[in-house]
Amino acid sequence: MTDRYAVIGHPVKHSKSPQIHTEFARQTAQDLSYGIVEAPLDGFVEAVNAFRADGGKGMNVTAPFKLEAFSLANEASERARLSGASNALKFDDGSIAAENFDGVGLVNDIQRNLGYPIRGHRVLLLGAGGAARGVLLPLLAEEPRLLAVANRTAANALALRHHFAGVGAFAAGGLGEFADTAFDVIINATSASLTGEAPAVPGSCFGAESLAYEMVYGKGLTPFLALARASGAVRLADGVGMLVEQAAEGFLWWRGVRPDTRGMIERLTVPLA
Ligand code: ATR
Repeated sequence: MTDRYAVIGHPVKHSKSPQIHTEFARQTAQDLSYGIVEAPLDGFVEAVNAFRADGGKGMNVTAPFKLEAFSLANEASERARLSGASNALKFDDGSIAAENFDGVGLVNDIQRNLGYPIRGHRVLLLGAGGAARGVLLPLLAEEPRLLAVANRTAANALALRHHFAGVGAFAAGGLGEFADTAFDVIINATSASLTGEAPAVPGSCFGAESLAYEMVYGKGLTPFLALARASGAVRLADGVGMLVEQAAEGFLWWRGVRPDTRGMIERLTVPLA
């Protein structure tokens, strides 16, 4: 019987997940269908339960429901627990398991696809909201030489460091705090691009060989990427690879087989400029 999956969000019609997972299923000969569930803002739990009652096996979760998805689950991975959010759910005999593949998707894209090692290198993560929190554990797991979290409101970065105390250590402060360090990888996990702004990070943070990574996908040369280019970063990337890599991790979790991501990343790539 065909197993059913879906992405749930609000709004969600723009989601690339059905295209990605349908292609993964074709490539790996898995018998599944993948749809879209647009839940009302106050109807997430009801929509998930209706999908489960209908025989659904799993869901991807996107904004604004990632926190609710985590709360609804009765099992969660450590990375989901630390981020307090889930972007993938698996339904099994009455149980709901929560995962968060955003961070591993980011790390896989930076290291495997873009060829920038994190282990032993200097990484600057901009932002201290949900997006930053969701990727911290996988970044820490790679053991960078220096991991710094810089945020517009320094107190929020310090609170994040406190939240991760006992899990892993990183530097934290305001956006101007690390002006003396040239980083190898600079990741924009702020929501500044959504309002057409660049986070006010000093140009000196971008090393001559550095990668500037915008977690937002498909928006072209965002203000952050333009700042990075003007500051001398050699390589610019947006989150298309992260999107496809997190989907591949989810597919592996659900189906036990890891699809190839290269062709799908190429297909979804929107030129930066
Ligand atoms: P998300 O889930 O996308 O992370 P969020 O939890 O609301 O959204 O967090 C937004 C992040 O973007 C925060 O780190 C925010 O900084 P503050 O903690 O100071 O609010 C950051 N942010 C938003 N707009 C920004 C801007 N124009 N410049 C710099 N940082 C910005």
